[in-house]
Amino acid sequence: MAVTIRTGKTDDLEALLDLREAVAGEGIWIAAEMPIDREGDRRKHRETIESEDGSRVMLVAELDGTLVGSLAMLTARGVGDLGMNVASGHRGAGIGAALLGEATDWARAAGVHKVELEHWPWNHGARALYERFGFVEEGYRRRQYRRKDGALWDSVLLGLVLDEDAPGHPERASEPPRRQPS
Ligand SMILES: CC(C)(COP(=O)(O)OP(=O)(O)OC[C@H]1O[C@@H](n2cnc3c(N)ncnc32)[C@H](O)[C@@H]1OP(=O)(O)O)[C@@H](O)C(=O)NCCC(=O)NCCS
Repeated sequence: MAVTIRTGKTDDLEALLDLREAVAGEGIWIAAEMPIDREGDRRKHRETIESEDGSRVMLVAELDGTLVGSLAMLTARGVGDLGMNVASGHRGAGIGAALLGEATDWARAAGVHKVELEHWPWNHGARALYERFGFVEEGYRRRQYRRKDGALWDSVLLGLVLDEDAPGHPERASEPPRRQPS
């Protein structure tokens, strides 16, 4: 049976938290760590699902009535920030691409001019998916995130510009990044 991509409902909350918990339990893909804060995450997921101002969206992937993937996008000042999960037994089957396709469609329709996200440097599968959609690296964030065990993990910042038509600064539309003196 084909996977259905749809917006999340309040009834999906526990399955969404189960998926998040399972992926966090893998320990290497997402920022959330075990034990996840189920209460806090439920509140944030509920806010996203029940939001009516068009500033955020929760998409879910459903297969035979089971929730197997999710993607949340929160926007601020026209920039969407996304996070996504596909259940471990269902990866590599096009579900991530289907979610991301819907999410970029949603973002364009919502007037979002850019989408950004971060991934861990070793998450090559996620990186390949994002690059397939046109995301490019915008920064390497060394020792950016403190983990529960005290370690500091690097992250990679990616961006996807959706609005290439709006003008930039009249005289300084684009400047190459400044290099540190060697
Ligand atoms: C990253 C993730 C969302 C991708 O979802 P997915 O359903 O497995 O991805 P898809 O099957 O839709 O793959 C789409 C494309 O992404 C790329 N890709 C995905 N996984 C890949 C992998 N392990 N290795 C190489 N390329 C991969 C490929 O380009 C693929 O296209 P192709 O199948 O035509 O080659 C999923 O693996 C996942 O949830 N991982 C754990 C959580 C996570 O990492 N979340 C993102 C945090 S930044």
